[in-house]
Amino acid sequence: MIRALATVLALIAPAALAGDYGTALPAPISAETCPADPESWTKAALERSLTAQLGLPLVPHPADNPPTEAKIELGRKLFFDRRLSINRTMSCAMCHVPEQGFANWELATAIGVEGRSVKRNAPSVINVGFLTPLFHDGRDPALETQFVAPLVARNEMANPSIGHVVAELNRLPDYRRLFDAAFAAPASLDRIGQAFGAYQRSLTLGNSAFDRWYYGGDETALDAAAQRGFALFSGTAGCASCHVIETDHALFTDQAFHDTGYGRMREERRQNPPASHPVQVAPGVVHQVDFSRIRSVSAPREADLGRYEVTEDPADRWTFRTPGLRNLAVTAPYMHDGALTTLGDVLEFYNAGGAGHPGQDARIRPLGLSPDELADIQAFLMALTSEGLDCLVAEARSHPPDNF
Ligand code: HEC
Ligand code: HEC
Repeated sequence: MIRALATVLALIAPAALAGDYGTALPAPISAETCPADPESWTKAALERSLTAQLGLPLVPHPADNPPTEAKIELGRKLFFDRRLSINRTMSCAMCHVPEQGFANWELATAIGVEGRSVKRNAPSVINVGFLTPLFHDGRDPALETQFVAPLVARNEMANPSIGHVVAELNRLPDYRRLFDAAFAAPASLDRIGQAFGAYQRSLTLGNSAFDRWYYGGDETALDAAAQRGFALFSGTAGCASCHVIETDHALFTDQAFHDTGYGRMREERRQNPPASHPVQVAPGVVHQVDFSRIRSVSAPREADLGRYEVTEDPADRWTFRTPGLRNLAVTAPYMHDGALTTLGDVLEFYNAGGAGHPGQDARIRPLGLSPDELADIQAFLMALTSEGLDCLVAEARSHPPDNF
């Protein structure tokens, strides 16, 4: 019951903000258009990890973890294996769902084993190989170590310790061949991290309509609205000062932490919740439910101080890492707590000048953009969707999940 309600609340929260209960989710990304051979898909994945794609630099691999097909194969299996959680119910891929852009469209904030709430939105792991540090608050430097956090977090996969996971993997006979092939050695903390790193760095995709136009010189690749949107994004709207576009590639992030006003706005709402909350019980059927009734059955929402939680430096309060903006079309909902359902909601937030708090970054200021201009920026953001998402899904699903 608690789990069910937590799910309903997570689902409704974005709609409540947007005041729009009819937002339909897009069709999940289908693997059918790019069939993957279960025996040889790792070849394409390795090649993607080692080749710079249009609009992207080479994905950086740590010197002590060069990618190999065997590591990628092992990393994929680990990513989809529910046996990696304490009660064998939850895999990494259940929060980072391939068909949903390796993010989760249905939940504003993630839900771990036994329905336990996580306070943040699960970001996409597509192109995560370029990001450092990791997490919305940057609390981990590398993919080789990041995986420990979800495996042992009580509200994610809830293992009692990381040693427990290593011992489990060494007990499972189907892993022996894979660890041997990848490392000629049994499972260990470092080797698990290397496999996760190699697999996730293979989830690298550039080649969007924008890339073909801007970096590829194809004048027909981007329509007029998206071109106008690009001019605003990199010009008067000032977006590109944080969501950076370089001359030969674009990650759309400066990998730095900023106070957009959003974190503090959400904290104020957490402290002063509205007396009642709209709850959607069926598509389009919404009841106003008294907030005290909701509170009596759900976990209280935790405060989120962003980067401050890592540094305890007051200047870092409510700052979050700038997210890259590629493939936004398949990674809704948005922001660190997923409370903005649509790109339209995000653009409205920016156009209004964020929350207008005194400590907010000076670049977040009322923009005075017209509805047409906002639509143009949105068209530009939609044009950052990569070709080949279907192939990542096909590779991810090239083997049935380990679910026994
Ligand atoms: C219960 C849902 C859940 C599970 C299970 C889960 N994640 Fe995540 N993941 C999240 C959330 C939420 C975040 C953001 C957390 C934060 O910033 O504090 C995240 C962040 C990440 C990031 C950082 C992305 C970025 O943009 O910095 C990576 C990489 C990642 N997860 C990989 C994994 C791997 C590998 C596993 C399995 C070992 C896993 N996740 C399991 C929900 C989950
Ligand atoms: C001062 C730096 C800065 C500027 C300027 C800026 N952003 Fe952001 N942007 C951020 C940060 C930081 C976040 C994450 C906020 C959070 O999660 O709380 C973000 C989040 C976003 C997101 C949500 C992405 C996701 O995956 O959740 C979108 C979309 C976005 N910005 C677009 C824009 C646009 C469009 C503009 C210009 C109108 C812009 N940004 C200007 C720093 C900036």
